[in-house]
Amino acid sequence: MSRSPSTPPRTPSPARTAATPDFGFGRPFDRSGTGSSKWARAAAPGVIAMSLADMDLPGPPAVAEALTRRARHRAYGYTVCAPAGRELVTRWYRTRHGVAVDPDWVLLLPFGPRTAIRLLLEAVRPEAPVAFPTPEWGGFAQVCRAAGLPYRELPLTLRPEDGYRLPSGLLPRPTSVVLLSSPHNPSGRVWPAGDVRALAEEAAEAGALLVSDEVHGDLTHPGHTHPVAVTTVDEPLRARTVTLNSVGKTFNASGLPSSFALVPDPALRTRLLDTMAGFGFWEGGLVEQAVQHAALSEGGPWLDALLAHLAAARERLTDLLGPAVRSAPQASYLLWLDAAALGLPPAAARRALLDRCALEASDGTEFGAESSTESRTESGPGGHGTLRLNYALPQPVLETVLERLARIRARA
Ligand SMILES: Cc1ncc(COP(=O)(O)O)c(C=O)c1O
Repeated sequence: MSRSPSTPPRTPSPARTAATPDFGFGRPFDRSGTGSSKWARAAAPGVIAMSLADMDLPGPPAVAEALTRRARHRAYGYTVCAPAGRELVTRWYRTRHGVAVDPDWVLLLPFGPRTAIRLLLEAVRPEAPVAFPTPEWGGFAQVCRAAGLPYRELPLTLRPEDGYRLPSGLLPRPTSVVLLSSPHNPSGRVWPAGDVRALAEEAAEAGALLVSDEVHGDLTHPGHTHPVAVTTVDEPLRARTVTLNSVGKTFNASGLPSSFALVPDPALRTRLLDTMAGFGFWEGGLVEQAVQHAALSEGGPWLDALLAHLAAARERLTDLLGPAVRSAPQASYLLWLDAAALGLPPAAARRALLDRCALEASDGTEFGAESSTESRTESGPGGHGTLRLNYALPQPVLETVLERLARIRARA
């Protein structure tokens, strides 16, 4: 049964102070020999890997210590999930986001967010189409295709003054599930709370569940506030809303299959647990829980330092790249770039950036349809003509990237 939490006032993200400990973001951090997918994709001498969404920065020391401690105990048998894990998630939301999450809503999942979305869709058994704003990180369309579900892409609106806005009035009726990337991957946009509320209302009118994928939410930069969907939507719509999160993106642990869901509707929680059981999954996970516990209970100072590092990198990159940045990033470590504005050929931008600067980006076509635009008329197929760059880099590598990008800026 859910207790009924009240929402305390939001607290701003903590800023870095002079006393911030040194977590090593200013020094080179070599990932060779670790099987990094991002670096495997970029395998050529001198190329800097800036595609997949994980960080070339050392994670929190507390996570490494917890893993080492657990590994030393040589029983790796089945594990249950400790109820204290739910309280920890609740505490995390209260201290980091200033919102009240009921521990009963929390499901601690032994798989990553992509699998969580797929299993949620299995649990919902959608009969009407799934819909999601695009561009999106690529997983929404992929998961729907893999599940054989019809889906509708809802082009985001791009406004020159403030970047992307969520679409309104485009939802087909009926719609079964609306998937939202919040903050937005690929652009790093933090959606205004009012826009999330409006989308939730529209979703409810279309008969849909709103699933808000917030795996970049803890990476919201100082000065911005991430709207946690389940505590942002109007109270009557809460039971039609799910928030998904994970310590994977936040603490650079995406290689560990772990996530958590906030599911206020008890019936949906039961359906999801039943669906999971059918695939041999239950709440908990040996390594996942050790990592999640260490990250959420001890990772705060590391995260503050990370956010200061990312916000400083963002400032320098956006100053350098100016109008080539499609939508000013406010969270995470992703830059969504207009290839033509960088002087790169839109149809072969990824190759051109690789050849001219030895920087390996993700191609925009991986991210679904491009936005409709109020100021532009060109809107190619997919994310044609765009690139996504991951700037979660140690300082010396970031300096090299800035130098290389300055060269193409000068020629654009
Ligand atoms: C917004 C978002 N959701 C979900 C995922 C999927 O994460 P995983 O593949 O670890 O399940 C990603 C990965 O980049 C992401 O950026």
